[in-house]
Amino acid sequence: MLKLLILCSCCVFVWSEKVRYDNFTLYNVKPLTEEHLKYLKDLYEDTDVFDFWSIPSIVENHVSVVSPPETKEEFQNALKSHGIGYDVVLEDIQKAFDDQTRNRRKRDSGMYWTNYQTIDEIYEWLHELARTHSNFVTLIHAGKSYEGRNITGVRISRRSGRKAFFIDGGQVGADWLSPTVVTYLINQLVTGDDPEARSASEDFEWHIFPIVNPDGHQFSQDSVRLWMKNRRPSRSSAIGVDLSKNWNSQWAVSGGSFNPSDSNYIGLGPFSEPETRYVSRYIDTIGTNLAGLLSFRAFGQRLLIPFAHTIEPMYNYRDMLTIGRRAMGSLAVKYNTQYLVGTSKEVHDGSTGTIADWVKHRFNPPVVATYQLRDRSWGYTLPVNQVLPSCEETYDSVMAILREAKFMNVL
Ligand SMILES: *[C@@H]1O[C@H](CO)[C@@H](O)[C@H](O)[C@H]1NC(C)=O
Ligand SMILES: *[C@@H]1O[C@H](CO)[C@@H](O)[C@H](O)[C@H]1NC(C)=O
Repeated sequence: MLKLLILCSCCVFVWSEKVRYDNFTLYNVKPLTEEHLKYLKDLYEDTDVFDFWSIPSIVENHVSVVSPPETKEEFQNALKSHGIGYDVVLEDIQKAFDDQTRNRRKRDSGMYWTNYQTIDEIYEWLHELARTHSNFVTLIHAGKSYEGRNITGVRISRRSGRKAFFIDGGQVGADWLSPTVVTYLINQLVTGDDPEARSASEDFEWHIFPIVNPDGHQFSQDSVRLWMKNRRPSRSSAIGVDLSKNWNSQWAVSGGSFNPSDSNYIGLGPFSEPETRYVSRYIDTIGTNLAGLLSFRAFGQRLLIPFAHTIEPMYNYRDMLTIGRRAMGSLAVKYNTQYLVGTSKEVHDGSTGTIADWVKHRFNPPVVATYQLRDRSWGYTLPVNQVLPSCEETYDSVMAILREAKFMNVL
């Protein structure tokens, strides 16, 4: 499938048809020993056939892998011969992707959270929100993406002189969940009648960008559902950089690729891309006033605490771990969704160069975390009926983070 992606990135200008994934199988592979892990890591390094949605990194952490139909049998036989267990999550991921878009239609009643939102819907709604709540909601523009789309967000500020929270989503094109979750948070802060949301919106000034990678998001909607990167051409006719690994903290240390054709290509250097550069400059303007940053992305059900490259407790890691664990307890109340909490190296894949680590290192606001949202097996094929529950539980947990951080005198 990586071959497929490379192929189509060369041809997009002449060939804008949708790439299809008929009969591509999604596996949940379970490495139980170091040998299993090594086999998967080698496969991950060498393959241009299988598409890894998660990086093999820790024994017992499930790995999501997609196989095209031609290599399905070969893949299953290889796993079996190495004694590696797996589940077939989906026999045909195209069907799941079709389900995600089938009933998508703008409801008469305006914005909705029962389906994945498009960038047009989100931007239109943000403009509307700023118009209808102009006394405390302002549109903010970090800058333009490579293809000229605005990186647009909102500032919510009911009282002057408050500390700031920064929230981002949509750094990865294929991740359609985080932009929708982030607009749900915006909606609660602006129009919610929950007293907790109301005081959150009064106690802090919020700077929120639902889609940091508008080009990648649009391309994933229009052409290649599994497009991860932005859309700026790099060397050797490849396109795009994985923005989620392009921030200036431990850049290139782990989790990314130096090969421009790979979907996790980290770029020529930190902030090599207009999107990360503009958003980082925006953050610079509020950096010393930051109380916190929460970054949202699909998937894996993890709350990651800085720093990705280490298992050493750095800065106020221990406080954040406590806050995070309690907040994930609150997240689980409604739907029993279980999150792991820790540094990326402890509980996830140790990928460096993240926005959260960069902000923590540069400004050291007390509350910094990255959400890897639902789920652990469907990944980017997450069914539409899980969108609203994801929004609700995530909102509960964000309120809990504020509550617990205040309780522990961190905020
Ligand atoms: C997918 O697999 C089914 C069953 O093997 C087959 O009938 C169908 O033609 C395949 N679809 C495509 C597009 O290859
Ligand atoms: C894009 O951002 C600029 C400010 O940088 C603003 O003037 C313009 O209206 C924005 N366009 C849209 C479509 O939001």
